[in-house]
Amino acid sequence: MFSLACISVGLLGASLPVVTANSPSDILHRDVVVIGGGASGAYAAVRLRDDFNKSIALIEKQDILGGMVDTYVDNKTGATYDFGVQSFLNVSKAKEFFDRFNISVSSNSSSPTLITEYIDFNTGAEVAFQPPSLTAQITAIAKFLDVIEPWESMLQPGYWNFPAPENIPDDLLIPFGEFLTKYGLEDGTPLMYSTTGLGVGNMSEVATMFVLQSFGWDMARAMTGQMGLFTPTSGGNQALYNAIAKDLGEDVLYSSTVTNSHRTNSSVQLTVRNHKTGKLTQIVARRLLVAIEPTDDNVTPLDLSPFERDTLAKLTYSNEFTGLVDNSIFNTSYYYFNLPSSAAPNHTLVFQDEPMVASFQYTGLEHLFRVMIIGNKTTTSSEAKFLAQTSFDTLLNTGRLSGTELQTQKLNWAAFSTHGPMHARVSVDEVKNGFFQDLYKLQGARSTWWTGGAFSVNFQTKLWEFDEGLIPKILEGL
Ligand SMILES: Cc1cc2nc3c(=O)[nH]c(=O)nc-3n(C[C@H](O)[C@H](O)[C@H](O)COP(=O)(O)OP(=O)(O)OC[C@H]3O[C@@H](n4cnc5c(N)ncnc54)[C@H](O)[C@@H]3O)c2cc1C
Ligand SMILES: *[C@@H]1O[C@H](CO)[C@@H](O)[C@H](O)[C@H]1NC(C)=O
Ligand SMILES: *[C@@H]1O[C@H](CO)[C@@H](O)[C@H](O)[C@H]1NC(C)=O
Ligand SMILES: *[C@@H]1O[C@H](CO)[C@@H](O)[C@H](O)[C@H]1NC(C)=O
Ligand SMILES: *[C@@H]1O[C@H](CO)[C@@H](O)[C@H](O)[C@H]1NC(C)=O
Ligand SMILES: *[C@@H]1O[C@H](CO)[C@@H](O)[C@H](O)[C@H]1NC(C)=O
Ligand SMILES: *[C@@H]1O[C@H](CO)[C@@H](O)[C@H](O)[C@H]1NC(C)=O
Ligand SMILES: *[C@@H]1O[C@H](CO)[C@@H](O)[C@H](O)[C@H]1NC(C)=O
Ligand SMILES: *[C@@H]1O[C@H](CO)[C@@H](O)[C@H](O)[C@H]1NC(C)=O
Ligand SMILES: *[C@@H]1O[C@H](CO)[C@@H](O)[C@H](O)[C@H]1NC(C)=O
Ligand SMILES: *[C@@H]1O[C@H](CO)[C@@H](O)[C@H](O)[C@H]1NC(C)=O
Repeated sequence: MFSLACISVGLLGASLPVVTANSPSDILHRDVVVIGGGASGAYAAVRLRDDFNKSIALIEKQDILGGMVDTYVDNKTGATYDFGVQSFLNVSKAKEFFDRFNISVSSNSSSPTLITEYIDFNTGAEVAFQPPSLTAQITAIAKFLDVIEPWESMLQPGYWNFPAPENIPDDLLIPFGEFLTKYGLEDGTPLMYSTTGLGVGNMSEVATMFVLQSFGWDMARAMTGQMGLFTPTSGGNQALYNAIAKDLGEDVLYSSTVTNSHRTNSSVQLTVRNHKTGKLTQIVARRLLVAIEPTDDNVTPLDLSPFERDTLAKLTYSNEFTGLVDNSIFNTSYYYFNLPSSAAPNHTLVFQDEPMVASFQYTGLEHLFRVMIIGNKTTTSSEAKFLAQTSFDTLLNTGRLSGTELQTQKLNWAAFSTHGPMHARVSVDEVKNGFFQDLYKLQGARSTWWTGGAFSVNFQTKLWEFDEGLIPKILEGL
């Protein structure tokens, strides 16, 4: 089923920058410049250049494409394990995009069968939580899909049809726990939460519409067998993005970010800096596509208007981190899953608050366990690692890992990935004040278009679908 799980993502190089003088060769003229080579940006770059004959430049901070994809390669055996993005939802043209790069996919899952052990990671107490049977969970998810079906076009694949404040269904704005109770859907939560719902933190408290963006229509279809999920048959999920990188070649500026911009109604000019070489490149383009999370840090170089700045500043995020640890004291039969003690014996609506370590899960590879950490808006990578160590210490000291002896150990990180801010959301009051209408006023203004999770939804192939709708608008007048 949906077993969630890296070419390790090389972070920024640390070499000292050497700023070179601008020469004419450092000015690129392009139809479209794209910022961010993750799911939404890489897809749009390929489509615009290879299918619509537009010249592009793609600016990517890291030294590979793929964003939240993290494929770990065991260098002894060559086996891969995806510890970021797990699998792709088989929506609309998703499969075709793999086909064009000759990447074969399959729905086979190689994840091991594990015993789920519920533990309160704050205290180390075992939680005698008895989830509803799998059948009961799937039945509830099918019913959930019936309830939410009428609202799909309001939220997916983007907010183009999001209703005016007076027409927003009340159900979308109540806390998700209340929503589930109202419709008698509580039995579905363990699967909803453990697959993709946990990214929003305490799922019961978050407004229903934002939980639907993390576990909604397509995930419900996938869980009930109405939609496939697939992965590449070899090379892990990174195989796709490596193929895109090869295809786009020198049109990608790696290890680079924008330092300055000037955006007008007819064109954009960006100054781009390569962190490794210090080289500056000027890009003059007729359109800009922003395909990164529009956080303060990310958008500061984009000469925002006060309206753009005020609108984007309302968004709040979770921060996600994943990694692989190699500590033999973990038992490879287990999926150690964090729930509050109050979930026992069968309270399905009780979850931990972020920041938290969601789980340690055996990967099936060597002795590696996948760690999933959900941070709040301000959680940094070092805080996330510290939190994982603290949870590990608690499990050790309370005898959850092997016997009862007290032990201290450092987590041995085989890989760690900072996915950064995701699950963009705003308060219910902001939604009622027309936030999404304001957000979409940014689309197309000052030659700039916006894609990615905050403007759509956090699923790779769904973002491709969103891009499909955006591309004709970007091409207008080009
Ligand atoms: C642990 C985890 C598991 C997931 N599992 C799945 C799954 O199984 N299936 C699924 O469909 N989705 C999954 N997702 C969600 C999915 O990965 C995201 O929704 C998707 O990657 C978002 O795409 P994006 O283009 O908005 O951003 P990203 O994919 O994050 O891409 C953004 C890119 O921009 C780059 N960048 C960032 N800032 C800058 C900057 N300032 N300048 C230049 N470049 C910059 C980044 O390096 C990155 O390459 C998962 C996410 C996480 C965190
Ligand atoms: C692609 O665009 C270039 C530059 O605008 C143009 O010269 C060329 O004819 C176009 N090719 C096709 C197949 O449209
Ligand atoms: C395998 O990877 C580890 C960690 O990245 C590295 O230290 C080691 O040298 C690598 N071994 C081989 C054979 O490449
Ligand atoms: C895919 O395979 C076909 C047929 O072998 C080949 O013509 C094409 O160039 C390949 N495409 C890529 C991106 O490798
Ligand atoms: C998927 O699994 C089936 C059954 O184990 C096997 O026959 C098939 O070859 C596998 N397909 C791929 C693409 O790995
Ligand atoms: C994806 O969906 C298409 C139909 O839309 C179907 O033909 C194909 O078999 C599906 N593939 C997988 C892997 O689910
Ligand atoms: C840019 O376009 C917007 C919307 O069409 C318009 O309101 C604004 O006056 C234009 N700015 C300039 C400088 O022409
Ligand atoms: C791991 O857990 C399994 C299942 O509970 C148990 O049978 C096995 O003995 C444990 N292994 C170790 C090394 O403790
Ligand atoms: C939950 O557990 C309580 C106490 O064991 C029991 O009375 C109740 O029937 C259980 N509810 C469900 C839905 O299983
Ligand atoms: C999560 O939210 C629910 C519902 O509001 C609440 O009962 C629970 O205590 C919260 N969890 C934590 C750890 O605070
Ligand atoms: C995030 O979590 C930390 C640690 O619990 C807390 O100190 C901080 O106030 C939280 N930040 C936000 C914005 O909630």
